[in-house]
Formats: sequence, C-alpha cells, structure tokens
Amino acid sequence: MTQGADATRYGRVSILLHWLLGVALLGQIAFGFLLDEIAPRNTPSRAGVINLHKSIGIVLGLLIVARIVWRARHAVPAWPASMAAWQRGAALWWHRALYVCMLVMPLSGYIASNFSKHGLRFFGVVLKPWGPDLPQVYALFNGLHIATAFLFCALIVGHVAAALMHALIDHDGVFARMWPGLTR
Ligand code: HEM
Ligand code: HEM
Repeated sequence: MTQGADATRYGRVSILLHWLLGVALLGQIAFGFLLDEIAPRNTPSRAGVINLHKSIGIVLGLLIVARIVWRARHAVPAWPASMAAWQRGAALWWHRALYVCMLVMPLSGYIASNFSKHGLRFFGVVLKPWGPDLPQVYALFNGLHIATAFLFCALIVGHVAAALMHALIDHDGVFARMWPGLTR
C-alpha cells in the first residue's frame, strides 16, 4: 500500500470502485440487519430473501477482490504536508481495517453457508455445499459474520466522520481526491 509521491488524487477506477462499493455495501449491511423484518424466520419467503442476500454478497465479494487487486497495483496520492504523522498512521490502519472487514464479511458468510444443509442458491442456481452439515462450524462463521458487521459499521462511521472533517474543517483536499471531478 504505497503512497505515490506524484499523483494528487485517486484514479478514476479507484474512485468508481470506492463509491460503487461504498453505496452497495451500505445497502447490503442494511439488508442484512433487516432480514428478520423483511422475511421473518420460518416463513415461506425466508429462503428466497436469504439467498438474495447471499447472492448479492458473493457479487460484492468478487468486486472487493477486484478493488484490492487494483489497489495493490496502483500508487495512491501522497498525503498533504499539513497532515500530522499520527493522522497518516491512523488513516492507513483504518483503511486496512476497512479492507479486512470487506473481505471477512463475504468470506465468513460464504464459508458458513457451505457448512449448512441449506447451502446456497446463487440467483437461483443451486451451488452444492462443499462442506458437511456441521452446525457448530456454521455457528462459528455465522457468529464471525455478525460480529464483523458491527465492527465494520463502527469503522465506517469513523471513516465518514474523518472524511467530513477533512472536507468541512481541514479543507486540505483529502476529500476532493476521492470525489469525482473535484480537484480541491
Ligand atoms: C459484503 C458482503 C456482506 C455483507 C456486508 C453482509 C452483511 C450482513 C449483515 C449486516 C447481517 C446481519 C447481521 C445480524 O444479524 O446482526 C447479515 C446476515 C446474514 N448474512 Fe450477510 N453480508 C454479506 C455477505 C454474505 C454472504 C456472501 C453470505 C452467504 C453466502 C451471507 C449470509 C448471511 C446470513 C445467512 C445472514 C443471517 C445471519 C443470522 O441472522 O443468523 N452474507 N449479513
Ligand atoms: C461502506 C462504505 C465505505 C467503505 C468500505 C470505504 C472504504 C474506503 C477505503 C478502504 C479507503 C482507502 C482507499 C485506499 O487508499 O485504498 C477509502 C478512502 C476514502 N473514503 Fe471511503 N469508504 C466508504 C464510504 C465513504 C463515504 C460515505 C465517504 C464520504 C463521506 C468516504 C470518503 C472517503 C475519502 C474522502 C477517501 C480518501 C481518503 C484518502 O485520501 O486516503 N468513504 N474509503
């Protein structure tokens, strides 16, 4: 995760992936927390709605891998000189934690569903589980999925607060470099 010294803003693809995934992930998180409202357990609609959440989650997982590969191959803009060393360190580690959550969310859900007899239907296509029906393993990964969802939400709140602080208080161009079209 190098900080390139030349670029002053993120590239178009990085910006596109950031906002596409940002909006989609917020939607998927809301969908996850509302699953029981939308389709209560033991109702006929439950399986279809859960499988929609799983299918969207897998697509998002693939997009997240694409984003990480893109990120690893492209330099990112250097921090503005006005940013203190502790702020740079905090941003770096916060972003890394966001990437970890972005990976753990789809992976934990995917692994959990392969240790359940329900398996998963990817937009209607049955994907036979590659693991045995083991409720304890399912519960472990499902628990990880749920716990990470809360950590992810906390990290996103902090991330948005920091972004708004850069935009509205510091006016240091950090927000603009991730916003399409803005230069400052
Ligand atoms: C980026 C991708 C994903 C995000 C952000 C996400 C988010 C969430 C959230 C916020 C919840 C609610 C947690 C709670 O009950 O407190 C949830 C539940 C759930 N997710 Fe995901 N999810 C993702 C991908 C997946 C995938 C790929 C699968 C399976 C293939 C999956 C399966 C489930 C299941 C089965 C539940 C219900 C858990 C339960 O209530 O016992 N999710 N998800
Ligand atoms: C699910 C929601 C979001 C996720 C997972 C997310 C994740 C990330 C990550 C991982 C980075 C680091 C990019 C890199 O250097 O590789 C980043 C940068 C950034 N994000 Fe977000 N983001 C989300 C939502 C938002 C929102 C809603 C805003 C604005 C209010 C925002 C503003 C920014 C800005 C300004 C940067 C650039 C910071 C810099 O220059 O390093 N993000 N985001």
